[in-house]
Amino acid sequence: MFDIQEIRSQFSILDREVNGKPLVYLDNAATSQKPNSVLDVCHAYYTELNANVHRGIHTLSQLATEEMELSRRKIQKFINAEHDFEVIFTKGTTEGLNLISYILTQKLQKDDEIIISYLEHHSNIVPWQLLCERTGAKLRVIPIDENGILQLDYFDQFLSEKTKVVSVNQVSNALGIVNPIEEIIAKTRKNTDAYVVIDGAQSAPHFNIDVQKMDCDFFVFSGHKMYAPMGTGILYGKREILEALPPFHGGGEMIATCSFDGTTYAGLPFKYEAGTPNVGGNIALGAAVDFMNRVGHENIQNHENALLEYAQRHLLEIEGLKVYGEKAKRTGVVSFNLEGVGISSDVGMILDKMGIAVRTGHHCTQPIMEFFNIAGTVRASFAVYNTFEEIDLLVEGVKKAQRMLS
Ligand code: ALA
Repeated sequence: MFDIQEIRSQFSILDREVNGKPLVYLDNAATSQKPNSVLDVCHAYYTELNANVHRGIHTLSQLATEEMELSRRKIQKFINAEHDFEVIFTKGTTEGLNLISYILTQKLQKDDEIIISYLEHHSNIVPWQLLCERTGAKLRVIPIDENGILQLDYFDQFLSEKTKVVSVNQVSNALGIVNPIEEIIAKTRKNTDAYVVIDGAQSAPHFNIDVQKMDCDFFVFSGHKMYAPMGTGILYGKREILEALPPFHGGGEMIATCSFDGTTYAGLPFKYEAGTPNVGGNIALGAAVDFMNRVGHENIQNHENALLEYAQRHLLEIEGLKVYGEKAKRTGVVSFNLEGVGISSDVGMILDKMGIAVRTGHHCTQPIMEFFNIAGTVRASFAVYNTFEEIDLLVEGVKKAQRMLS
């Protein structure tokens, strides 16, 4: 049974006040709050287990290693990877995308093409621009229509033997639009032998992920947006692809042998995990997966979809309020502006005075803002612990902001 009050009781931070008002936390696309079960695991790690992993003969090191590898297997199951060693711990989606674009450097040459979309976060744009600078490859960008929907007929035209990488997000962070990645992947496979990269930063917190069914080559996401600590994330890569590509960072843990005559590299996953990892965080990421499994993916999705539908319906009752991507299939996010209120942060500041946390601005997606000819939006984003009463407070707050600002 889905009991929202029971879920909320697992998040101590939701009891706090902000500016004298109960906190209404609607900035989940930036980072989610963490349940006490995850915080307890972090605390227990540092009070009972703290040691470096994979290096020590001593008991604590072995226990910490076992816990981190157990967490890796939980995440393997969470995304349905074939092997646990295809799951690489990173510090987040940005690191994952930079890693992939770096290790592909030798695979691209002048005039090859990388396809991304207009809906990408800067972290799925800039690493590819840097790869283009290194190799002379070119970026092709799938355009969007006035609803923010990807124009796949352009994608069809872009696909050619020059296409070496296709990298798109499953869900847009700025607008919450769910992209047709099944179609994108199928078309890429049919027409090219390009690498397929999926940015799952905004989908892993909401959807059931199955990387094998998806048939992507890489899938990256952040732990901190799905109830895990900051500085955690995952890069999934298909075994044969990761085995064939070079390492990213050099250092401890990623070598098999190191000598001045030459160095050989460790097998997966360690080849891509140089240096001391965020052991406590990585173990707690496994606890976040446990939390999501306990709540159930279907419950998470049903509740968040209901919140989104309710929020959009009531926000649109406000005259002069525009929702970006209103007609597109979306999850977790409603992004909007008030007519005559030029600066989204003014709305955000008034909401903050009422204890309501939203994000305002360009959301690291300046091309989307440029497309809609706006400086930014007000973005409310939902997690499983949000309530319909909180949406009512948001709607009241937006009405108040409108009265004050127009
Ligand atoms: N990428 C995060 C967001 O969309 C920070 O808010």
